[in-house]
Amino acid sequence: MHGYGCGACHVIPGIRGANSWAGPPLNEWARRGYIAGRFPNSPDVLVAWLRDPQALSPGSAMPNLGLTETEARDAAAFLFTLGASRLPPVPAGLPLGPKEAGPREEPRIRPRG
Ligand code: HEC
Repeated sequence: MHGYGCGACHVIPGIRGANSWAGPPLNEWARRGYIAGRFPNSPDVLVAWLRDPQALSPGSAMPNLGLTETEARDAAAFLFTLGASRLPPVPAGLPLGPKEAGPREEPRIRPRG
């Protein structure tokens, strides 16, 4: 993923400098349901997206980056290694810590269910 410039637009865990919010963050990619909100998230569709986002979704803010088939497959394989975060879930009813809820986020008690 280094060298393709993805980090200029995306937050990508494990990629140094990939901390931009121009595009959606790619955290926990393997859990994502849809690509660009439109296409079911499968490896083949992701490869097609990475090769030519404009063909799938004309006018999308993600530009074509000229990835080869091999580069797109490598990038897709990497993204699918990004699974659920290892942080244990906060049990229902416990107050959220200061780093888990933003300053304006309410309620600060995690709702049950
Ligand atoms: C110029 C900014 C830019 C660059 C560079 C860029 N992207 Fe994107 N990317 C976007 C934007 C904006 C979207 C949202 C597109 C949409 O929803 O139509 C997006 C969407 C995506 C998505 C789908 C995300 C989702 O939640 O649906 C993936 C996966 C993705 N990009 C991967 C990459 C990878 C891998 C690279 C590097 C090869 C890359 N992007 C480079 C801007 C960029």
